[in-house]
Amino acid sequence: MKILIVGSGGREHAITWRLSRDAARHQLFCAPGNAGTEAVATNVAIGAEDVEGVVAWARENNPDLVVVGPEAPLVKGLVDALAQIGVRAFGPVAAGARMEGSKRFAKEIMDAAGVPTGLAKTFTDAVAAKAAIPEFGLPVVIKADGLAAGKGVIVAETREVAEAAIDDMLVGNKFGAAGAEVLVEEFLHGEECSILAMTDGNNAVLLPSSQDHKRIFDGDKGPNTGGMGAYSPAPVVTDDMLPLIKEKIIMPVIEELKRRGIVYRGILYAGLMVNNAKSNPSGPVAKSGSPVNVVEFNARFGDPETEAVLPRLGGDFATALLHAATGCLKDEDITVLPETAATVIISSGGYPGSYEKGKTISGLDGNPALVFHCGTRREADGSVSTAGGRVLSVTGMGKTLREAVDRAYDGVGRISFEKAFYRHDIAHRAFER
Ligand code: AMP
Ligand code: GLY
Repeated sequence: MKILIVGSGGREHAITWRLSRDAARHQLFCAPGNAGTEAVATNVAIGAEDVEGVVAWARENNPDLVVVGPEAPLVKGLVDALAQIGVRAFGPVAAGARMEGSKRFAKEIMDAAGVPTGLAKTFTDAVAAKAAIPEFGLPVVIKADGLAAGKGVIVAETREVAEAAIDDMLVGNKFGAAGAEVLVEEFLHGEECSILAMTDGNNAVLLPSSQDHKRIFDGDKGPNTGGMGAYSPAPVVTDDMLPLIKEKIIMPVIEELKRRGIVYRGILYAGLMVNNAKSNPSGPVAKSGSPVNVVEFNARFGDPETEAVLPRLGGDFATALLHAATGCLKDEDITVLPETAATVIISSGGYPGSYEKGKTISGLDGNPALVFHCGTRREADGSVSTAGGRVLSVTGMGKTLREAVDRAYDGVGRISFEKAFYRHDIAHRAFER
């Protein structure tokens, strides 16, 4: 198959790499890709959010499939635009991508479908939003409705912090249109996990569970990032939970969207909070009464979850993606290998605050771990240098999680660049069990 992958991060490198491992040989292209994807695909110089540019390329090159990595082009309607010229794409149409693009819309769908989630109310008026805080108790969560590059969620421990967040969004216009509506939401206790469901709009297949590490420092301290590591499977998700997650969370959302005329194809990513005797022995239960609640939905593969999950998939990945994109996904399209996987992100020092770029990276060649590039650039002299906050994603595989983690850190230890930073405790929650 001729396949174009849209995006430039570790997720897109992992998708491209996994496609290159299929038994069938594919012709792979990345727009724009990075210094890692060029080893397994041809990079084309079109930005991931350049809908017109991608469509023009597709019209000229007629790919069998376009796989859209990031949320922004999905929300902008890339899949709709490709459908108009008869090109098949993996990813939801813009109306479906609102599950990620509008937290108010996602809540509306969940409420209509009876999906357990934190109680929330939406406001455009700061005085009314602040007046609602006591209903929710503390901590309370304040969220911008729209896409805010991962910065639009504030978990407030005090009323003052919550009120300041509301003012920032509704009065100070901190996130522009994305923060013109604000959700005040119940804080959910427990342990988070990620479930990526592949769906063709009718059927859904859950990919192996995983857990992200959102905070920058060891022990889950410091500010939120795009994700500093992941591992799969996540033992917080026990085998008996998976059918319930599918039946009570994933399928009701897909059905509710369909009722509204939206055929959702691609990945429906559920960020879940598990609150049971093992994950939260003494903590309060959620108002929904359910031990598993939805924190958020995303309309795409997670990053860095993808770098841990995709190496565990057997079978022909292109076929699974194509079947999802064309409405004929079967359970057998996804097979899972017995190995576990652990992924450690190496970031630029200073991230998620300001950081420097252009540092030369060594230790990539011959690295025994799976090294996916997140933010890298090929220089004219052939060297690879840093070009983003998250720079590399290093995945180890093993028969046990310990082995996978050790292999990931062995790979990390061989890589260096000035001011490189990484967490040392990836998968700690699994080991603490
Ligand atoms: P989101 O962008 O919705 O994923 O939120 C970012 C992070 O904020 C999540 O991964 C959670 O760690 C935290 N968070 C969001 N909503 C809640 C909630 N209702 N209760 C507890 N934590 C939350
Ligand atoms: N790892 C979190 C996300 O992809 O949104």
